[in-house]
Amino acid sequence: MRFLQVHLLLGVTSALVIQSVPWKVPCPRQCVCQIKPWYSPRSVYKEAPTVDCNDLLLSRLPDSLPAETQTLRLQSNLISSLDQTELQGLANLTELDLSQNSFTSARHLRITGMPGLLCLHLEENQFRHLPEAAFSGFPGLQELYLNHNQLRNISPGAFTGLDNLLRLHLNSNRLCAVDRRWFHALPHLEVLMIGDNPVEVIQDLNFKPLGSLRSLVLAGMGLRELSEWAFEGLASLESVSFYDNRLTKVPKKALQKVSGLKFLDLNKNPIQLCFNPRLSYVHPQAFQRLSSMESLMLNSNALSALHRQTIRSLPGLQEISLHTNPIRCDCLIRWVGAEDDRPVRFIEPQSTFCSEPPELKARRVKEVSFREMANSCLPLIAPGTFPSHARVRLVKACQGGPSSSLKEEECPGQEQLEKPSICPPVPTAGECHLDTQQSQKQNSAKDCSSVDNASSTSDNFQNIQPQSC
Ligand SMILES: *[C@@H]1O[C@H](CO)[C@@H](O)[C@H](O)[C@H]1NC(C)=O
Ligand SMILES: *[C@@H]1O[C@H](CO)[C@@H](O)[C@H](O)[C@H]1NC(C)=O
Repeated sequence: MRFLQVHLLLGVTSALVIQSVPWKVPCPRQCVCQIKPWYSPRSVYKEAPTVDCNDLLLSRLPDSLPAETQTLRLQSNLISSLDQTELQGLANLTELDLSQNSFTSARHLRITGMPGLLCLHLEENQFRHLPEAAFSGFPGLQELYLNHNQLRNISPGAFTGLDNLLRLHLNSNRLCAVDRRWFHALPHLEVLMIGDNPVEVIQDLNFKPLGSLRSLVLAGMGLRELSEWAFEGLASLESVSFYDNRLTKVPKKALQKVSGLKFLDLNKNPIQLCFNPRLSYVHPQAFQRLSSMESLMLNSNALSALHRQTIRSLPGLQEISLHTNPIRCDCLIRWVGAEDDRPVRFIEPQSTFCSEPPELKARRVKEVSFREMANSCLPLIAPGTFPSHARVRLVKACQGGPSSSLKEEECPGQEQLEKPSICPPVPTAGECHLDTQQSQKQNSAKDCSSVDNASSTSDNFQNIQPQSC
């Protein structure tokens, strides 16, 4: 799904299928020769003379390939080396598919000059290492597939000579770090897939040379955080996927450096506040300065709320994915039903449900009315009302219950809760409320509206949700 979206974003019309027609040439034994539709990485369409020799247990290239061959498919064979002489005479070869073969070393790829080749498939081989200038025999290459290999180590200058490369697929390897020096040779790279590698930290300036990059996939990498400067230099970035990582918060500062972002995928991350899934949220200003953002993918997180201000800070937002989150249908998600706001399309609205409050549980978020959500608003806290030195803890108390049932939730280092004030508690469900400890000033009506009027003020407040006692 996410790859599909990346491709759609880049305008690749891969769904367009035109019938293959027979190509009447002497065809190598067991292979199939046809004229087939073909798109270059720049979406240039051709009818390409194609030789298919997939799945034939070949350990070397067939002899006597037709000289007009433009696409040569050797997927799923036993080839472990390739020599320039084997491709001699194929002057118009533009795509070579050697995926699912037995290459173990780039040194066995003895190609000295195939300037016309645009696409090279080497995925699902056994490469462990890429030496310097590993692909210098392919100076015209626009797309290189190295995904699903065993790469642990790539020399700093491995991609030297690939000045024209637009897409690089390095996902599903064993890389432990991303080296900025790889990218110096790739000034025109537009798509980088590097997910499913055990990289735990993206270093500052890691992608700096990639000024043309439009799409970056960092899925499944175990990323826990992202530094402010991680995306420095990515002036053209439009799409980034953090699908299935370990981010506990939105990498706000790093994202602020990429003002042209249109597509952000944060699905499957344990984004939460205070490590308390009941309070999980996205900071209202998390996406500031992302005015081009069109798609926001937040499903399968631990989110219970999304602030209206978050949505307002994304003027270009057209669609959002929120399903598989423990969404609390109250004040903080009321933008869903608010009519004055521009409509934001829900991705999979049929499976986007309220988890709370109990009376709205299992209702579809889209179908809960504004009024119903407002009815379940909880006490609001305004930031900046307490003195700055006060460290405030939130205490839940059961009214009338024994003091031993008091529970505390502390939020170390969370700026939103370090200096809050708290409204006079409004017991909503009748039995629970929030209270503060160590707070000197019980600032009352000045900043805190009653729940009934939260609509006008909710943008300035944090909504704190008590747990049931
Ligand atoms: C290669 O392509 C060019 C331009 O389309 C064509 O003129 C030439 O005949 C082709 N060469 C072969 C060997 O098919
Ligand atoms: C809610 O607040 C707005 C302005 O903040 C005020 O004009 C309005 O009268 C209030 N409504 C209620 C019901 O208190």
